[in-house]
Amino acid sequence: SVAERVADLLERMTLPEKVGQMMQLDSREDLDDHVLHKHVGSILHTSPERVVRAHELTARTRLRIPLLVAEDCIHGHSFHEGATIFPTQLGMAATWNPDLVGRVARATAVEVAATGVHWTFSPVLCIARDLRWGRVDETFGEDPVLIGELASAMVRGYQGDGLGDPTAILATAKHFAGYSETQGGRDASEADLSRRKLRSWFLPPFERVAREGCRTFMLGYQTTDGVPITVNSWLLDEVLRGEWGYTGTLVTDWDNVGRMVWEQRVQPDYAHAAAAAVTAGNDMIMTTPGFFEGALQAVELGLLAESDLDRAVARILTLKFELGLFEDPRHPDAERQRTVIDHPDHAALNLEVARRSLVLLRNDGALPLAGGDRPRRVAVVGPLADDAQTQLGDWAGSSGQADWLPDGQPREMITTVLDGLRDLVPDGWEVVHARGADILSLAPDPEGDTFPDGQPRPQVVVPCPPDEALIAEAVAAARDADCVVAVVGDRIELVGEGRSTATLDLVGGQIALLDALAATGTPLVVVLLASKPLVLPASAMGAAALLWVANPGMKGGQAVAEVLLGRVEPSGRLPISFARHVGQQPIYYNQVRGQHGARYADHTQDPAFAFGEGLSYTEVEYADLGVETAVLGPDDRIRAAVTVRNTGARPVRETVQAYISDTVTSASWADKELKAFRQVDLEPGETATVRLDLPVADCAIVDAEGRRVVEPGEFALLVGPSSRDSALLRVGFTVKSPA
Ligand code: IFM
Repeated sequence: SVAERVADLLERMTLPEKVGQMMQLDSREDLDDHVLHKHVGSILHTSPERVVRAHELTARTRLRIPLLVAEDCIHGHSFHEGATIFPTQLGMAATWNPDLVGRVARATAVEVAATGVHWTFSPVLCIARDLRWGRVDETFGEDPVLIGELASAMVRGYQGDGLGDPTAILATAKHFAGYSETQGGRDASEADLSRRKLRSWFLPPFERVAREGCRTFMLGYQTTDGVPITVNSWLLDEVLRGEWGYTGTLVTDWDNVGRMVWEQRVQPDYAHAAAAAVTAGNDMIMTTPGFFEGALQAVELGLLAESDLDRAVARILTLKFELGLFEDPRHPDAERQRTVIDHPDHAALNLEVARRSLVLLRNDGALPLAGGDRPRRVAVVGPLADDAQTQLGDWAGSSGQADWLPDGQPREMITTVLDGLRDLVPDGWEVVHARGADILSLAPDPEGDTFPDGQPRPQVVVPCPPDEALIAEAVAAARDADCVVAVVGDRIELVGEGRSTATLDLVGGQIALLDALAATGTPLVVVLLASKPLVLPASAMGAAALLWVANPGMKGGQAVAEVLLGRVEPSGRLPISFARHVGQQPIYYNQVRGQHGARYADHTQDPAFAFGEGLSYTEVEYADLGVETAVLGPDDRIRAAVTVRNTGARPVRETVQAYISDTVTSASWADKELKAFRQVDLEPGETATVRLDLPVADCAIVDAEGRRVVEPGEFALLVGPSSRDSALLRVGFTVKSPA
């Protein structure tokens, strides 16, 4: 059995071999030293060539324990040239479609496995509440239920039919837990979270994937209650392994163990840091070369028991045996890569996800553009209209993080919005292009070129001032056109780890450009190509139409053009709220009630666009919400139905959202929480009955002691097209005390 093989191997391993087995090092550095002298158990940031070399080196080691090869394949095989790059996780979340998201993960696994990678650091289960945080694009948004649904689909997609399947890769639930609860949006700051708050919203998505068999979990960088997550034994041991029965592997984030010494300064040296990290339950230590000497010393000094190391090593070896790596280390397979990478089925799936990820936020009738018989002239302007790399987003070979693939993905694989419109406008139409504005340039960080650990500091962003000549050219193009499509948003340098933003404004000359375009009087369609919700100027909020496009992947420009031209119906819904002002942060729909002071003296707290919102090219009417039984016991189910009718002239994919509101709670709680959603396709004039079947357990709150309980009493089921109260139908029901 696997357990016997693990025990047998462990017995034959020396102490340095065990310590090395717990280490994951960067394959771009000294691979020979990592494998031959540090006995590393895993490498990350690879290429097929480095993987082959690493396996060759492993074959020269005493026990020939195969390596686990890991990579951040977050929305496609991020760093493999020519691989399919899908919309970012936030874009995928806007589809509200677990099936599609699961298929993306499966296609990614097939491409990734062919390159010899066994393990992806995806999905992200962080709750994005502060839009200034640089990693909002990597999340599924602000709601724990939506996150849980989509993340489970993704985990199933990656892990396939079981680890023995050569196309299965290990999924990682990250970043455990509460990392996104930042101070002022600043990445990796203190996460000031109570245990109750963690249990209420931040832990449930993780619990779900732990129970569903996600094989690895990654920590974040945060400190909570004075305890860095790396040594938070309450979360790692008591909750994750104890309460949830998780038997998988835990990997730290980048140099978490070293950071306790040189950054957080809660450990005096590497021996103490290594001992604390292993004792708290970590298995794989990412990119802390000093862990090797530190852990050896810790054992020598009696700070760390060898049995604690054995536990961690056993968990890593178990993964390797279950993946079958001792029999077949899964070398990169050039022939398979040729067949599966950028496979036409993956390209078709990519286009489908991109289409479904687009969220129409405003439309005064300007969209769709096609219609009428007059040949049209469309001015496509803006700095992002033809920016292929920004369209792919972070973790796509285009960001500063991906300096090992500096040119990103091949240009010819990417369809920008300009390409898409040029390709797809009807015969006789004309597309003219003007950049209109620049966004930013980069300058060396005044604080120095490197961090204290020697890692390079990213350059800092310098916004470009409005350029009168560029604006004049765009305005002239707009004046001569029947309609102007302005593609504005954020650039990759404003997104990612360590790249939080103080403001949410359009950077550089973009606001001046939009203001000038709005003043021309030509109908203005704003395509907001932005990794996360931004705060929009009046010229965009009042534009004839507004479409949010999270980084939409390689096929994004085609998808945008199809929606603008009415060849595809817009169907995305917001997985996250848009603010009207940066000062509204954090803004999310399920804030606890009772905040009568929530309205600012100088500003509303109403979001610009609320969680769940999104328009179609038709109207849908909701009616007749009813529950089958209005008085329920704790083990019963809430069976409800609602009628939805397409009252317009075009087909629609409607996302029916169901929220529960608990009328009186023993501890403060959100006024409503999403519990389920269903998608239904309706032809013009068609009516459908959508049925909901929820366990009464979905009525639970977390009480003041941190227990998840259903408190008997009055509840309401709210059903409609978004989280806005005004959009929801409501029906009451009662939950009785247990007999
Ligand atoms: O997986 C990532 C993580 O999300 C952030 N820090 C670096 C890791 C490895 O690249």
